[in-house]
Amino acid sequence: MEQVFVNILLNARHELDERGEGAEREGKRFEKKLVCRVSREKVEEEDYVVFEFADNAYGVPDELKTRIFEPFFTTKETGEGTGLGLSIAYGIVTRALDGKIWVEDNEMGGASFKVAMPVTPANAGVPDAGYKMQDAGRLGWTG
Ligand SMILES: Nc1ncnc2c1ncn2[C@@H]1O[C@H](COP(=O)(O)OP(=O)(O)OP(=O)(O)O)[C@@H](O)[C@H]1O
Ligand SMILES: [Mg+2]
Repeated sequence: MEQVFVNILLNARHELDERGEGAEREGKRFEKKLVCRVSREKVEEEDYVVFEFADNAYGVPDELKTRIFEPFFTTKETGEGTGLGLSIAYGIVTRALDGKIWVEDNEMGGASFKVAMPVTPANAGVPDAGYKMQDAGRLGWTG
């Protein structure tokens, strides 16, 4: 889970920095925003804990909303990004943790990355603690 969140956050920081630098070159003001939210939601009739990371950078165009999760897809300059971050995140979330990950537009004009983790009876009462233990177990982590 940490790897998933860190990659989403690094991506957001990169896009926000780009947008900030772009604005600076044009002598415009740009206030970087990154909002993280956690909520309990039903997705396709199932209970999930949804982690949302919302930025106000450029957003992701509709035609790229699924492609960004493919291995080696990157819009960064050669040598800057491998394009593996989100594909690894996708693998961890969907295969190891039985969750979902996707991107949406948000009200700030940027991208919202959402990670939904299923709520199982064992962790229903204590989502946070429950997730830690469940993740650690399924991923074979000891810490
Ligand atoms: N917050 C975001 N806003 C806009 N586009 C994004 C955002 N996060 C990711 N993307 C797009 O998704 C692409 C793929 O991201 P991914 O993390 O898989 O690779 P990368 O960041 O380009 O490379 P690496 O993770 O190896 O540094 C990015 O190149 C970018 O085009
Ligand atoms: Mg990345």
